[in-house]
Amino acid sequence: MNAKLAALSCLIGLAAVSPSSAQTYPSRPITMIVPFAAGGPTDVVGRLIAESMSEHLKAQVVVENVGGASGTVGAGRVARAEPDGYTVLLNNMSQVTAPLLYKQLPYDAINDFEPIGLVVDVAQTVVSKKGLPAKDLKELVAYVKANNVSLANAGRGSGSHLCGLLIKRATEATVNEVPYRGTGPAINDMLGGQVDVMCDQITNTSSHIRGKSIQAYCVTSKKRVPALAELPTCNEAGLPGFEASVWHGFYAPKGTPKDITAKLNEALQVALKNEKVKTRLSELGTEPVPTGDISPEALRNHLKMESEKWTSVISSAKIALE
Ligand code: MLT
Repeated sequence: MNAKLAALSCLIGLAAVSPSSAQTYPSRPITMIVPFAAGGPTDVVGRLIAESMSEHLKAQVVVENVGGASGTVGAGRVARAEPDGYTVLLNNMSQVTAPLLYKQLPYDAINDFEPIGLVVDVAQTVVSKKGLPAKDLKELVAYVKANNVSLANAGRGSGSHLCGLLIKRATEATVNEVPYRGTGPAINDMLGGQVDVMCDQITNTSSHIRGKSIQAYCVTSKKRVPALAELPTCNEAGLPGFEASVWHGFYAPKGTPKDITAKLNEALQVALKNEKVKTRLSELGTEPVPTGDISPEALRNHLKMESEKWTSVISSAKIALE
C-alpha cells in the first residue's frame, strides 16, 4: 500500500467510528456474518432477524455465510473487522464452546467482541436417516453400540458435536464422526442416506421430522417442545439427565461505539418482538429468550456461565485439542 492510500484508509477508519458517523449510522448495508453454511439452523435464525432489522434500521442487513472450523472462521472475520457497526456476527453457542477445543485461535472469543444480546434458545433433536432399524432411543443406543455408525456434526465444539459427544459418552460406542461446515449440508446428506445419525437444532429438522423423511428419537431440552410435542425428551426416552440445547447471540467487534451497539440492540429487540418473526421462530420450535436477556449484560453473563459449564463437560470427556 502506498503512503497516500495508507493515509486515506486511516482517515476512512477514523471517520467510521467518529461521533458523527454514529449519529448517521447506518448509512450503508450491514453485513451479518453467519459462521455456518447457508440453509442451516443458525442461517435460518439470522435471515429471519436480518429482514426485520433491515426494516427498522432502514438499511439492508445482508447475511453472509462464512462457514468452517465450527464457526471460528466466521467469528474470526468479525473479530478483525472495523468496529464501525457494518460487520456483525450472529453465532450460536459455538462462540464459546468451539474455542475450548482449539489450541490456538487468532482471536479471543470473549474479549474481541461487544455482546449485543441473546437471541433465541433452540433444542436439538437426535435424528437418523430414514430406514435405520431403530424405532426409539433405546433401540438407537443399541444400534449405535453394535454398528460403526457415521455421526454428522458442524465441527469440533459446535452444538451438534457436543451433543454427539454426550451420546458417544452415554453409549460408549465407537462412531465415525463426519464434520461439515454446518448442519445445513449435513441434513442434506442425511436425506440422501449418506450419514446415519446426528444431533441437530430443531429449526433444521422439524419439517423433515413432520414429513417423515428422517427419523427422530428425542429432543435435547429439559421439556418437550410444543412444535413437536409428541417427541419425548432424551431424558424421558432413556438417557437420564441428557441435555444439550443451543443458544444464539449477537455481537459486534470490540471497540464498536456504544451508540452504535445500542442501535443494533434496539433493532434486535424490535426483530424479536415482530409478530411474523415470533410466529415463524415458534413454528420452527425455538424458545424465545426473556426480553431482559436481549441485552449486552445478559449475553456477557451467559458467555461466562456457558464457558464454565462446557469447560467442565469437555475436560471430563477428555477430548484432545486441535
Ligand atoms: C451447530 O451444530 O452448532 C449448528 O447446527 C451449526 C449450523 O448452524 O449449521
